[in-house]
Amino acid sequence: MDDIIGRLERMRAAARAGGGERRVQAQHAKGKLSARERLELLLDDGSFEEYDMFVEHRCSDFGMEEQRVPGDGVVTGHGTINGRPVFVFSQDFTVFGGSLSEAHAEKLCKVMDQAMKIGVPVIGLNDSGGARIQEGVASLAGYAEVFQRNVMASGVIPQISMVMGPCAGGAVYSPAMTDFIFMVKDSSYMFVTGPDVVKTVTHETVTHEELGGALTHTQKSGVADRAFDNDVEALASLRRMVDFLPLSNRQPPPTRPTADPAERMESSLNTLVPPNPNQPYDIKELILKVVDEADFFEIQPAYARNIVVGFARMEGSTVGVVANQPMVLAGCLDIDSSRKAARFVRFCDCFNIPIVTFVDVPGFLPGTAQEFGGIIKHGAKLLFAYAEATVPKITVITRKAYGGAYDVMASKHLRGDVNYAWPSAEIAVMGPKGAVEIIFRGSISDPAAVEEKTEEYRSKFANPFVAASRGFIDDVIMPQNTRWRICRSLRLLRDKKLENPWKKHANIPL
Ligand code: HXC
Repeated sequence: MDDIIGRLERMRAAARAGGGERRVQAQHAKGKLSARERLELLLDDGSFEEYDMFVEHRCSDFGMEEQRVPGDGVVTGHGTINGRPVFVFSQDFTVFGGSLSEAHAEKLCKVMDQAMKIGVPVIGLNDSGGARIQEGVASLAGYAEVFQRNVMASGVIPQISMVMGPCAGGAVYSPAMTDFIFMVKDSSYMFVTGPDVVKTVTHETVTHEELGGALTHTQKSGVADRAFDNDVEALASLRRMVDFLPLSNRQPPPTRPTADPAERMESSLNTLVPPNPNQPYDIKELILKVVDEADFFEIQPAYARNIVVGFARMEGSTVGVVANQPMVLAGCLDIDSSRKAARFVRFCDCFNIPIVTFVDVPGFLPGTAQEFGGIIKHGAKLLFAYAEATVPKITVITRKAYGGAYDVMASKHLRGDVNYAWPSAEIAVMGPKGAVEIIFRGSISDPAAVEEKTEEYRSKFANPFVAASRGFIDDVIMPQNTRWRICRSLRLLRDKKLENPWKKHANIPL
């Protein structure tokens, strides 16, 4: 017995040592934590229960039978984040560069299968050189097993990827199929083919960082949702984010006590919208003033900034917020903002998270770049996402709601449950100036007459009352009461029941 216990302890120690002191130091020298240090920061103290510490690879080619490290380059198991369970895997770059062997893949699949059975999120901390080169196709098969599980888990349990090192080749497609990808600045990168291949094929010279670093993916490509300065900040933020999410699609969103009264009035909102309709204002000010304790976890803050999306709470319960941002491109919808918001709306709908939409949208962005880029299909994604969503949907039009964009932004016609407008709302086919130019083209040219007609159009249509008179707006509310009105509506809608017709799945315009 003592023998066995001694052996157990030696094996545990070997697994904990990973690739050894020298490689751990090299990891630290790059400003990266080890796989186990990361899990310690991510999970509640003492909550981690490890699986498969003794799993080893089965490869005997290229001298691999001499190199076996218990755990085989990934630490897996479950633990809690602020008391709520999650399954985790953390790739250990110190063991064969965190590369994915058949056995490594089996460990990932096991935690994913367990998470699906129980209905608990999976968080992956990615730090890997990709497919285990010595194993060949066995490794590729392992990736495909993981991909299949990513797809089956999509919409059932939240899946989050934190990319904390290399992630290249086909390996990027597992994070790509999870709900959120976060990255760490200067130490993580993602690309399908690296700089050397790029140089050979397209003759472009580009660094790892330029091609697939955290800034590239959070500002240019939109592949990643947020970039953090270092591992510690990244893991602390991940804990904060998980607090907003339900454990699975069978669970309601989490609630937590709040000291922020639902009926809190915010009189500063009465002057948020400037008198000049062309003057911008910061929609984030509205979000922060309306949600509980000004606590807002923004998704993709640096990408498609003309729309703001993220998680907040109202009366302690998670909501997804979508808001046009007049500060950027006047808040119009374009390809990137439509895709960004559509994906967020669909996430919320999968996981029973009510959606609060703040509308100030002058329309879709015109131009050849948008048309050639397929704005028709991309804009349709957001329309589709809102229209198919069955979660509670509350909409507040603060200013402009013009044209097709009015319809898209959670209008009454797309089964908006409660649609409010501020007195400053302008709900019309287009802005007064553009409307007059079209209606009176060729018939009036005198600037004074144009101005008069513009004013006439503005007073007739550029207000909330035409829409309200048809019931498309449920009420015109004072800005200062916005929080209270939304809280009350969400309370009312808590037991909302709405189902879409049976289908295998919809055919969203991809
Ligand atoms: C086996 C690997 C490995 C891999 C790294 N290592 N990648 N072992 N398979 N894929 C090992 C190295 O041999 C080394 O071992 C240790 O990990 C650290 O690697 P270094 O190169 O010293 O580290 P660094 O300089 O930081 O460079 C990291 C790296 C580089 C950029 C990731 O290692 C690299 O380019 N690796 C190969 C990447 C690759 O081509 N992967 C296959 C992609 S194709 P020692 O013993 O010296 O510590 C793919 C297909 C997936 O993944 C398809 C899915 C459908």
